[in-house]
Amino acid sequence: MGKILAVTNQKGGVGKTTSCINLAASLAATKRRVLLVDMDPQGNATTGSGVDKHELERSVYHVLTGQGSIHDAIQKPEESGYDVLPGNADTTAAEVELMTMEGKETRLRDALAEVADRYDFILIDCPPSLNMLTLNALAAAEGVIIPMQCEYYALEGLTALMETITGIRQTINPRLHIEGLLRTMYDPRIGLTNEVSRQLISHFGEQVYRTVIPRNVRLAEAPSHGVPVLNYDKNSRGAIAYLALAGEVVRRQDKVKGLNTERKTAS
Ligand SMILES: Nc1ncnc2c1ncn2[C@@H]1O[C@H](COP(=O)(O)OP(=O)(O)OP(=O)(O)O)[C@@H](O)[C@H]1O
Ligand SMILES: [Mg+2]
Repeated sequence: MGKILAVTNQKGGVGKTTSCINLAASLAATKRRVLLVDMDPQGNATTGSGVDKHELERSVYHVLTGQGSIHDAIQKPEESGYDVLPGNADTTAAEVELMTMEGKETRLRDALAEVADRYDFILIDCPPSLNMLTLNALAAAEGVIIPMQCEYYALEGLTALMETITGIRQTINPRLHIEGLLRTMYDPRIGLTNEVSRQLISHFGEQVYRTVIPRNVRLAEAPSHGVPVLNYDKNSRGAIAYLALAGEVVRRQDKVKGLNTERKTAS
């Protein structure tokens, strides 16, 4: 079954969508089968993967509200190399409709269960808030990737997110864990960046990915061409960083798989 990872941080503009798109493309480049789920009504992950968010016959909206099957909603944009469950502004309506539905927090989890076997990784791009859409992502996921900029307020926001994750683990999803904290838009010339980075590592240790994503204009330009940075400028510092991150994500996954096999053989 595919490993489901939610890319989340309630703080806006920290690089969630950029990380989702480019990690998906980099994992696909290493021959992993990947699905990207766009849970953000802004639909940026959809557009940035080469899918027109204004022309969706079926989307996350239909899947969450039970009006369509996930099989019909998934698209396979050729250029990006991974599959996309697209979303757009309609997802806002889904959030409202979910409120009165049974199993409102687990609709995404149930839908993904139908396709999880087909993928090695499923990445969920979350909106910048801790709303019902994010809760659906956290209920479906096994791990959480938290992109963050190393600035003063970053650590403060992290506390609220950690509390939410603990709450979800105690209720709807006991297996949820922090997969990794990802330092984005990293600029070592800024003194504060290094200081916050140090604090992050002293608090979270191994949970902080070794790979840092540099501030790189190619990463900001690629979405306007509807492609991941690998298809836009594969030699850019941004493309190389996300390939390194994919390597780290895969190694962590292989390590866990290895441990599980050891446990099974031992028991
Ligand atoms: N490493 C980077 N270098 C340069 N620009 C970046 C980088 N990462 C992201 N950006 C740019 O910063 C902006 C915010 O990034 P992004 O959309 O990925 O953040 P987000 O967390 O998904 O935002 P939101 O909270 O609105 O969903 C975008 O314009 C994006 O192109
Ligand atoms: Mg986003």
